[in-house]
Amino acid sequence: MCGRIDDPKGKSRVEYVIEAENLRKVFNNFVAVDGISFQVYPGECFGILGPNGAGKTSTIRMIYGFSPITSGKLRVFGLDITQKWRKIRARVGVCQQDNNLDADLNVRENLEIFAQYFNISRKQARGKAQSLLKFIALEHRQDDEVINLSGGMKRRLVLARALINDPDLLILDEPTTGLDPQSRHQVWDRLRELRSKKGLSILLTTHYMEEASQLCDRLIIMDHGRILVEGKPADLIRHHVGHVVIEVDDPSPKLRIFVQNHNLKHEDLGHRLIIYGQNQDSGRLFQEIDDQFVNENCILRMATLEDVFLKLTGRELRE
Ligand SMILES: Nc1ncnc2c1ncn2[C@@H]1O[C@H](COP(=O)(O)OP(=O)(O)O)[C@@H](O)[C@H]1O
Ligand SMILES: [Mg+2]
Repeated sequence: MCGRIDDPKGKSRVEYVIEAENLRKVFNNFVAVDGISFQVYPGECFGILGPNGAGKTSTIRMIYGFSPITSGKLRVFGLDITQKWRKIRARVGVCQQDNNLDADLNVRENLEIFAQYFNISRKQARGKAQSLLKFIALEHRQDDEVINLSGGMKRRLVLARALINDPDLLILDEPTTGLDPQSRHQVWDRLRELRSKKGLSILLTTHYMEEASQLCDRLIIMDHGRILVEGKPADLIRHHVGHVVIEVDDPSPKLRIFVQNHNLKHEDLGHRLIIYGQNQDSGRLFQEIDDQFVNENCILRMATLEDVFLKLTGRELRE
């Protein structure tokens, strides 16, 4: 389905920022993206999750016109990517998976020189660079060589560079991978600010489930080039896992029988039993297990997006 649609809040008729329909990417004979369809609304933060090799980067590279689509339909701002990729790229900001900063330029120059790709005048570029450096708290390092920045600073600089053309859509490929918690939270704060103050639409991939839960309005989980599920983080958790999770280390045969007899939704990992609580009585259930099977190490915790992710994509290592 392409074209205009009703705004989810019912306010006005708006266009999707991104519409992918049966989108495919094939490298030689290898199918990296296998006919996926999804839409992103204006002002939304949309997440693409998936194990390594799921097809996340291949998908977003097509969206910012870096990699041609093999087949299907892809419209960004209502424009066909195969025909209007120049116009689309002018309105998109991209943080690629790797920090591809120019090591020969200092921090400020990395922003100012990049601005030339968008035909921004030198004077304007200087002003924009200064305000972006302030936004990412790197003003004091503007004359430094890029090589001397910490991982978190480099990532913030890549984010600032993606904003140099005042994009309507920001695309972030694993924006916080490898960052310490402080740097990660700082990036999250900046992204929230961009959304709330500028109404920016954001498309991001991430391996951090907490990041997806905190930032994304909606998300898809991909594997082997296909979409497994789509939805709001909280809805996905409730639907696929429940409210709480009880984890028991080295479960006894008796506990396994108890779980079977009570028809409890669970996953048996051998050394650990994971029981998914679908209702509010899970506290009582935990108490019952804890009382009856006192020798087992047992914890009760809230269900998370990570539970959904592991349940749907499995626990085997990838790559
Ligand atoms: N240029 C390419 N040529 C051949 N295979 C590729 C290329 N880019 C990605 N792939 C393959 O496509 C699959 C999906 O890759 P990618 O989109 O990078 O996954 P993700 O970002 O989810 O980790 C992987 O198996 C990867 O090896
Ligand atoms: Mg990737």
